[in-house]
Amino acid sequence: MARTGNRTYNIVTFGCQMNERDSETLAGMLEELGYEQTDDRLAASVVVLNTCSVRENADKRFFGVLGQLKHSREEDPDKIVAVCGCMMQQQSVIDKLKSKYPWVDLIFGTHNIGEFPRLFANVRDERRKITEIWEGSDTIPEGLPAKRMYSFKSYVSIMQGCNNFCSYCIVPYTRGRERSRSPEAILEEIRGLAAGGCKEVTLLGQNVNSYAGGVSFAQLIRMIDEIDGIERIRFMTSHPKDLSDELIGCFRDCRHLCRCFHLPVQSGSDRVLADMNRKYTRERYLERVAALREACPDIAITTDIIVGFPGETEEDFQDTLDLVRRVRYDSAFTFLYSVRGGTPAAERKDQVPEEIKHDRFNRLIAEIHAIQEEIGKSYQDKVLPVLIEGPSKTDPAMMTGRTESLKTVDLPACETLVGKIVPVRIVKAQTFSLYGELAADRG
Ligand code: 5AD
Ligand code: SF4
Repeated sequence: MARTGNRTYNIVTFGCQMNERDSETLAGMLEELGYEQTDDRLAASVVVLNTCSVRENADKRFFGVLGQLKHSREEDPDKIVAVCGCMMQQQSVIDKLKSKYPWVDLIFGTHNIGEFPRLFANVRDERRKITEIWEGSDTIPEGLPAKRMYSFKSYVSIMQGCNNFCSYCIVPYTRGRERSRSPEAILEEIRGLAAGGCKEVTLLGQNVNSYAGGVSFAQLIRMIDEIDGIERIRFMTSHPKDLSDELIGCFRDCRHLCRCFHLPVQSGSDRVLADMNRKYTRERYLERVAALREACPDIAITTDIIVGFPGETEEDFQDTLDLVRRVRYDSAFTFLYSVRGGTPAAERKDQVPEEIKHDRFNRLIAEIHAIQEEIGKSYQDKVLPVLIEGPSKTDPAMMTGRTESLKTVDLPACETLVGKIVPVRIVKAQTFSLYGELAADRG
């Protein structure tokens, strides 16, 4: 089936916000090359799979999707299948692709995303297969195009890489060492976004509070707070060990900083935290949470928790439950520990049996949900600013929006409000969903 003239692309993104942002760059590049986005992966003339290696599940899903593309790639000699992202920074993955998926056309990594147009053109024009992986990079390329997913909210990458080497985590190996963009480049990007109608920016980095672009992260936030048109500033992810008083002070002073904070704790046990190489204790973590709440009493705190790290005992797990009860998270992402080859924790002999991991996971979720339910109820009858994002996924007759604390609210509203921040009264508060109505007549 020849596809002369078919110039469509489909990008599949696995993993974190950083990857979503990278996929916007890939989309921008493909559009500049004259390609149009399609949802039809099998018919697309170009498919890019942007991979994640943080947990085994993402690996499996990637190979699943890749397998589904085999037939359409064989049917269509002009089709190009490209794979990139974190998984490609691992030799074992490259070896597997070469032996089991030799029909993949282009393989590149996290450090040479800026090279994609050149690599892609070579593959397309010379019909050859290319694998190009860089081991690392000292800078973040500037000036790359981007096709933004939304006009009213955007991710802005401020730094990349991680120097922390938590013992379970593959990211320092796949994303390399920390490097920060200059404040000028970041501010210019955000001013441009604001000029295009963007209201909300989420500053992205593996560890945003060790931003080192010449000013501190807190100073950067204060600069962004002054940009006309930006009404909401968010950031992620923060490492508790680097959460400075200076950053906490921003929650007192910055008008546009959303009152919510994602602060991954990973475990409530000092012994496990030390084994994880997290470099803080539960006391220090709880002290930082208290400092945040003192500066901003209604701040919503969210977290990441890993269950079943090697050597985790029932007592360690009880410490995690206890910490969860003390902090009372607005929400928490919970993960079963996943062995990542090449990391120190993968070498440990005292891996926790699967059934114990699952049992703890379920008990943890029950605890988190019970707290979430109580917090959810406290939203009842409150009037909150909500950024309207578009039709609701569960009920297309309704609009959906997000509170400062990132909770979704469904409400009857007109499509013209998309991209606007409006006051909404919460009329029904459930554990995972809020329902509201416009609190003022917007004319
Ligand atoms: N197993 C389980 N969860 C992990 N995370 C990172 N590495 C692993 C792993 N090997 C989780 C951490 C991190 C989040 C992005 O993913 O909780 O904060
Ligand atoms: Fe991974 Fe730890 Fe770095 Fe986060 S801080 S990316 S968990 S190594």
